[in-house]
Amino acid sequence: MASILYNGINQLITTFDQDSTLLDISLENKIPHLHECGGNGRCTTCRVRVIEGHQNLSARTMVERNTAHLRRWDPAVRLACQCRVKGDVVVQRLVWTGAEVNKLQLETIPEGEAEERNIAILFCDLRNFTRITSQNLAFDIAHMLNRFYTVLGDPILMNNGIIYQYVGDEIVGIFGTAGGTRQKNATDAIRAALGMQYAIERLNHMELKDFDTKFEVGVGVNFGRAFIGHLGHPKHRQFTVIGDPVNVASRIQGYTKVAKVKTLISESIYKSVEEGTLEIGNTFRTQLDGKDFESQLFELRGFREMDMNLELQSSLDFILKNEEGFARRFYDKVFTKAPGVRALFKSDMVSQGRLLTHMLSGIVYSLSRPEYLKMGLRTLGKSHEKYGVRPEYYPLVEEILLETIREELGALYTEKLGRAWKQALEYITSQMVNWEADEKIVEMSNAAN
Ligand code: HEM
Ligand code: FES
Repeated sequence: MASILYNGINQLITTFDQDSTLLDISLENKIPHLHECGGNGRCTTCRVRVIEGHQNLSARTMVERNTAHLRRWDPAVRLACQCRVKGDVVVQRLVWTGAEVNKLQLETIPEGEAEERNIAILFCDLRNFTRITSQNLAFDIAHMLNRFYTVLGDPILMNNGIIYQYVGDEIVGIFGTAGGTRQKNATDAIRAALGMQYAIERLNHMELKDFDTKFEVGVGVNFGRAFIGHLGHPKHRQFTVIGDPVNVASRIQGYTKVAKVKTLISESIYKSVEEGTLEIGNTFRTQLDGKDFESQLFELRGFREMDMNLELQSSLDFILKNEEGFARRFYDKVFTKAPGVRALFKSDMVSQGRLLTHMLSGIVYSLSRPEYLKMGLRTLGKSHEKYGVRPEYYPLVEEILLETIREELGALYTEKLGRAWKQALEYITSQMVNWEADEKIVEMSNAAN
C-alpha cells in the first residue's frame, strides 16, 4: 500500500495499485489534474513537484527524460502520466488551469542568448486612461484595472500566446514563441485581438455599468522575425523580445487613435492568413514613426465565417460563471432523461461535476493546441469505454450539454454561439467515440511506411 498526499489541496489518497500512473490515480480519485495530451508525455501539463518520497516513484521513462533535459528540470519535477507510485509520496500539482499552460513554452527558450523566431506581436492600449484615473477613486481604479488585465489577458492565453508585458495601461502579447507556422501564429493573434474587443464590450455592459465608465481599447498586431531569449543580469534574467517588428506593432497600435478604429493589423499579418478569411473594414497607407516608407494597415472587424474557437473562447467564462450549478443542472437533466445512466457514476456528483467543468474549460484553452487536444480526447474516450459508456449515449449528452449552455447564456445566447458549441461538441464526441478507428488508421499507415 502507498499513500499520496496532494499538497495544496491537502488530500490524502491510499492505493494498492502499482500499475497505474500517478495521473491515473489522480483521475480515479476525482482530483482535477490537468492532462492536455491525455497522458502521452507530450504536453507537460500533468507535471508535479515531488516534495517527499522521490525514491518511491518509478524512474523517468525515455520520453520524460528527454523532456526533463530539454526544459532543464530539477529531479523533483515529474510527469504524473509517466511515473508509477511504489511507496508514500507528497506531491504538488504545478499547473492548475489551462490559463497557465502557455508560460511553459518559456522553458524551451535558451538562457543568456537570444534566438530569432517568427512571432506575432499584439499591443493593446487602454484609451483615456488619464481621464479615468482623474475621475475615479484609487480603490475603484485598482478594481477596474484588475478586471481590465484579466479580461484582456484571457484572449491572449486562450490563443497559445504569452502575456509579455504590462506597461502601464498597455498589454503586450506574443504568439509563436515555441515555433508553429506563420499562419497559425498570425491567426492566434487575430483571434486574441477580436476576443479582446468582445471582452471589453461585455465588461462595459455588465461590470462597469455602475461605475459610469466605459473602457475602450486600441489594438495593433504585427508579424515578423524577432529575437527572443532570457536576458539580463545572470542573477535576474528575464524573458525578452527584441526586434523591429515589436516596435512596429506598438506604432500600429498608436495609429488606431489617428485612424479612429479599434483594431489594425499590418500587411504581414493580413498576408499570413488565407485570402477571404477576414472581414476587413478600411485600409490605410501611412508612414509609421521611424520608417522612411509607407505601410499598409487593415482595419480588422472579424472573421468572414463563424469562427468556432473565437465563439467558444468568448462565451466560456459566462457559461462557467457558476461551475457547480452548471454541472448540477446538467447531470440532473441527464438522469431525468436517461435514469439508467446514473448507475455508471461511482463517485459523488459534486466532484464529478468539478472534473467535467475543469475538462470543458481545459478543452477551450486547448483549442489552439489541436494536436494535444485530439490526443486528450482520445484518452478520455478510452476511459469512457471502461466506465461502461456506450456510443449511443453521446448524442443525448451532447444535446443536454447544448441545452444547459443555452440556458446558462440566457440573454447572451445567439444562434451563432449555439452553432459554435454544437460544432465543438460534435468534434469532442467524435474524437472520444472514434479513437479505435483512428488508431487503426495510424497503425495501418505506419505499417505501409
Ligand atoms: C462531451 C462529452 C463528455 C465529456 C467532456 C466528459 C467528461 C468527463 C470527465 C472529465 C470525467 C472524469 C474522469 C476522466 O477524466 O476520465 C468523466 C467521467 C465519466 N463520464 Fe463523462 N464526459 C462526456 C461524455 C459522457 C457520456 C456520453 C457519458 C454517458 C452517460 C458519460 C459518463 C461518464 C461516467 C460514467 C464517468 C465516470 C464516473 C465515475 O467514475 O464515477 N460521459 N466524464
Ligand atoms: S505530459 Fe502528461 S498528460 Fe501530457
